[in-house]
Amino acid sequence: MHRVNLGIVGGGTVGGGVFQAIARNGGLMASRLGVELRVVRVAVQDLAKTRPVRIPAALLTTDWRSLVDDPAVNLVGEFIGGTTTAREILLHAFSRGKSVITANKALLSAHGEELFAAAQANGANLYYEASVAGGIPIVKVLREGLIGNQFTRIYGIVNGTCNYILSRMKLEGAEFADVLADAQKLGYAEAEPSLDIDGHDAAHKTGILASLAHGFWVNPKEIYVEGIRSVSRKDIQFAGQMGYTIKLLGIVKKSTTAPAGSKRFAPVQVSVYPALVPNTHVLASVNGVFNAILVRGDVVGDTLYYGRGAGQDATASAVLSDLADAALDLKCGIQNRVPPFVPHERAGAVTPIGDVVSPYYVRLSVVDKPGTLAAITAIFGRAKIGISSVRQPEGTEGDSVPLILMIHDATNADLTKALAKIAKLAAVKAPPIMLRVESFE
Ligand code: NDP
Ligand code: HSE
Repeated sequence: MHRVNLGIVGGGTVGGGVFQAIARNGGLMASRLGVELRVVRVAVQDLAKTRPVRIPAALLTTDWRSLVDDPAVNLVGEFIGGTTTAREILLHAFSRGKSVITANKALLSAHGEELFAAAQANGANLYYEASVAGGIPIVKVLREGLIGNQFTRIYGIVNGTCNYILSRMKLEGAEFADVLADAQKLGYAEAEPSLDIDGHDAAHKTGILASLAHGFWVNPKEIYVEGIRSVSRKDIQFAGQMGYTIKLLGIVKKSTTAPAGSKRFAPVQVSVYPALVPNTHVLASVNGVFNAILVRGDVVGDTLYYGRGAGQDATASAVLSDLADAALDLKCGIQNRVPPFVPHERAGAVTPIGDVVSPYYVRLSVVDKPGTLAAITAIFGRAKIGISSVRQPEGTEGDSVPLILMIHDATNADLTKALAKIAKLAAVKAPPIMLRVESFE
């Protein structure tokens, strides 16, 4: 029987999970693949650390280079996170002709093109199923299962930590900070949790999905990102009263037309922001650490993928899938059977957020006196922005009251300009809150 000797760099949540999952199901995989899978070395930072998943001391090292260089290691797993040492590990492994499995979406987002090229130049491969949506095999879905489709829409709840926080704020009225601490204890959050709550982790993943779907590696700087730090329990409650749930969505929408006079491809919206999702839509009922991704293909129509988006076992399952691919590639001596990324639409472009059209939820804190509403609606009227409903929920906020306006389709640029004018009215007592409403059309 062929054998794969895996060297793992990182023995934390993901690395430990991979070690444990191979111990549990390595035999099963061997019988399915005809390849024996062994972890032969594990690199960590601190040899003395007590680990929830015990790794035999004889396998441990603090020297990742010696692990990668070890002739006994023929496949490398990178599970340390970050973009500096992790990049070095991948480039070093490729230079030795060794393929790498990674779960590191921040690394791919920042250096994907360079790393894919380096892998290819050295006859190696890069596997990254675990980098998006934990246990959901969405990379395989886009690259293989739905390869015959043009992807018109992708809507994803792709950050487990944010979904866990928003769900508990809605369902239990829990406080943001308490729930974040729980997500950290459960191993969902990144080492630097602002990556999660400020939307960057979701942007890394959404960028990877957009790149795979549209064939050009999306520059992370072009992805519009808003996190959930400013989503208040009040907005969750008011949205709920109107039949909506607030979710952090990764959105990839292909425009139907290229910009006027342009010979370029129709641009693609690639954004991450908290949005009001109608309670009747399936994504509204995805709670806790679960992720879900709706992929719309021109041939297949709508398809939906659901599963745990973070945590030890879910992520390990995705790594096992890559391990199986890598094992078969090694067995067959084909290093690029499914290349990590095929740029097939080099002229692709990202839609600037100002041009993105959407309906909106706007909450204002206003002085409750005649003429206030008229002044606000006049500004929207002059901007040719339609209002679909106005609500003044019960309750006061100091000397003001909340006013909720639901806005018809408008460009982000037009709405932002109108809100800047509204914010200057004497009757408006706090900066306006604006959230987009997703209609999934
Ligand atoms: P952890 O912080 O739990 O683990 C990191 C591991 O890397 C630790 O074992 C640490 O050693 C080791 N390490 C750090 N630097 C080095 C180094 N220079 N040399 C050797 N070992 C090193 O992180 P996670 O396991 O949560 O995350 C790892 C990666 O997986 C990240 O890219 C993350 O984004 C990604 N990911 C995480 C998921 C999750 O649910 N947690 C899900 C999907 C992807 P020591 O233990 O000694 O400190
Ligand atoms: N911190 C990430 C999340 C881990 O919460 O989704 C999984 O990628």
